[in-house]
Amino acid sequence: MLALKVNKKQAEKARHYLEVHAQLSTKHKIYGDNSFIYLPIGPSADDKTARAAAKKLGASLVEKGFEKLRERSAYRQILAKELGEKYAEVTKSYDLIGNIALIDAEGSAAKKIASAIMQTNRNIQTVISKGGAVKGRYRTRSYRHVAGKRNFVATYKENGAVLKFDIRKTFFSSRLAYDRLRIAKLVKDNENVLVMFAGMGPFAIEIGIMHKGANVVGIELNRSAYGYMRQNIILNRLKNVTAEVGDVKKAVAKYRGFADRIVMPLPKDAYDFLGSALTAAKRRCIIHYYGFGGKDSAYSEHEQKVRRFFESKGVKVKVIGRREVRKYSPAEIEVVIDFQISKPR
Ligand SMILES: C[S@@+](CC[C@H](N)C(=O)[O-])C[C@H]1O[C@@H](n2cnc3c(N)ncnc32)[C@H](O)[C@@H]1O
Repeated sequence: MLALKVNKKQAEKARHYLEVHAQLSTKHKIYGDNSFIYLPIGPSADDKTARAAAKKLGASLVEKGFEKLRERSAYRQILAKELGEKYAEVTKSYDLIGNIALIDAEGSAAKKIASAIMQTNRNIQTVISKGGAVKGRYRTRSYRHVAGKRNFVATYKENGAVLKFDIRKTFFSSRLAYDRLRIAKLVKDNENVLVMFAGMGPFAIEIGIMHKGANVVGIELNRSAYGYMRQNIILNRLKNVTAEVGDVKKAVAKYRGFADRIVMPLPKDAYDFLGSALTAAKRRCIIHYYGFGGKDSAYSEHEQKVRRFFESKGVKVKVIGRREVRKYSPAEIEVVIDFQISKPR
C-alpha cells in the first residue's frame, strides 16, 4: 500500500497532518526503522492527494506492506461506544511495558479505557495510570493501579535486552529506546564505557549485549534502581557490565582516566557533572550529553556551556553529533549532543 516515508524528526508533524486530513490509515500499524517512519495512507486519499501531502511535508511516497491494526482499532471502537461524547476528551493512546498497560486518565474514564484494553489485548494483565510528573533526584513518578492484577514490576524487552523494574521506584521512558540503540551501535568492541545516571541499566545493558568485548560500568544513586540494574545484568547473562551504587561525583574516583566513552543521561543537571566526566575520561573521550531546552535554543545553549567548561580547563572540544531525543513539554525538547574531547598531554 501507499505510505509516506518521513525522517524521524518530521514524523509527528506528518502524522498529525495526515490525521487531520483523514488520510492516515486507521487499520494499519505505523512502522519505523532506525531512521524513518512509514505512515500508511488510508483509502480516503487517492494517489493525487497522497502526492500533494508528500510534497507539502517534504516526504517521499513509497509502496510498503503494513501490519493490520486489529487490536488497536477494536480497542478504539469499544472505547468510543463506552465513552460516548467523552471519547474526544480523553487520552486514548497507551504504552505497553511488558504485560502492563500504561494510560494517562482518571476516574471512570480510566476504568473504561482499562476495560477496553483488557478486552482487546489478552496479554495485558495490569492497567496503571500516571499519577503525576517525573520529579526528585531519582526522576521517578507515582502511578495508580486501575485494573487487573495489582502489579508494578514490569519485564520489558528493548533492543534485545530484558529489563525488569518497579515502575514506581525507577525512572523509565520507552522514548529513549532509539537513542540507546544509536549509542550502542557507535561503541567499538574493546571500549571502556561509563554510563552515569544508569537507572535500572538500559544503556549499560544494551551496550554490553551488543559488544561483548566492551567493558561497561553503570553508576546509579537510587538503591532500588541499582538493585534492578544488578538483577538485569544477571538476567541478560552479562559478564562485561558492572553496576556501582552511589553519587557519580564520588563514585568516579574509582574510574579515573577509565572511559573511552561516557553517557550522561540526566538532562536536568548533566552540566553539574562535567567535572566528573573529565576525571573519568581517557585523554580522548566521547561524551553523550543530554539536556532540556527550547526548540530553537537547546543545541546552542548546551554546546556553548559545555565548550566553555572544557576549554577553561585546556581541553579541546568538538561536536560530532546532535539529535532531538523527544518532546519534553509544550515548550521544551530533550536533546543529546555528542562531544569529542581531547585533554592536553
Ligand atoms: C533520567 S534517569 C535515566 C535512567 C536511565 N539511564 C534510563 O535511561 O532509564 C536519571 C537517573 O540518574 C540518577 N541520578 C540522579 N543523580 C545522580 C547522581 N548524582 N549520581 C548517580 N545517579 C544519579 C537517578 O536516580 C535516575 O535513575
